[in-house]
Amino acid sequence: MYGLVNQGIQGLIIDNYGADIWEKIKEKAGFSNVTFLASQLYDDSVTFTLASTASEILGVSLENVLKDFGKYWVLNIGKEKYGTLMKSGGDSIIQFLKNLPNFHSRVMLIYPKAETPEFKVDIISENKIHLHYYSSRIGLTDFMFGLIDGLSIFFDAPCSVNHLKHTETDTTYDLFEITVQ
Ligand code: HEM
Repeated sequence: MYGLVNQGIQGLIIDNYGADIWEKIKEKAGFSNVTFLASQLYDDSVTFTLASTASEILGVSLENVLKDFGKYWVLNIGKEKYGTLMKSGGDSIIQFLKNLPNFHSRVMLIYPKAETPEFKVDIISENKIHLHYYSSRIGLTDFMFGLIDGLSIFFDAPCSVNHLKHTETDTTYDLFEITVQ
């Protein structure tokens, strides 16, 4: 994945736990001399190793590291660094989710080699949607929960999320039912 993602983990750790802890995590993960660059491609294993080492050192489950990262991605990276892009997705969470299938095609204008997830959306009612998530990777379902949580805070729209389906082989499929309260 692009270094932007590893920089995101770096930001999450530094903002919440401090630079010394980040250095410890980087060292234990085997990347002490690496400076992550946003537009450089890194093997996916780098991202997964950083997340699992953070989990070990912080004593926080991997599930919660990924959820916190999803939330941070929307509320810090998305909102602060890609505000215009986030705004282009819509004015409400339902509108944003409806537009999500096209969202990463705009991301690809900036990061053309990104291997982004695919989304499909079914409108169930005015305040309820089914969000289908398809990824060529495995292990990022909890990241998705954090992203949805982040969007709910971003749009100030409390939501309940039901996890209706989960399939993980060498790819991942999840179905989330999102109801805006
Ligand atoms: C401005 C905001 C966003 C930017 C700049 C962005 C950009 C990216 C980039 C660069 C990647 C890495 C892909 C790669 O390098 O191969 C990625 C992955 C991903 N993005 Fe986004 N994204 C944004 C918002 C979102 C939102 C709102 C969602 C969903 C609600 C989302 C879901 C994901 C997921 C789940 C992945 C992990 C890859 C996978 O599942 O296979 N992103 N995104």
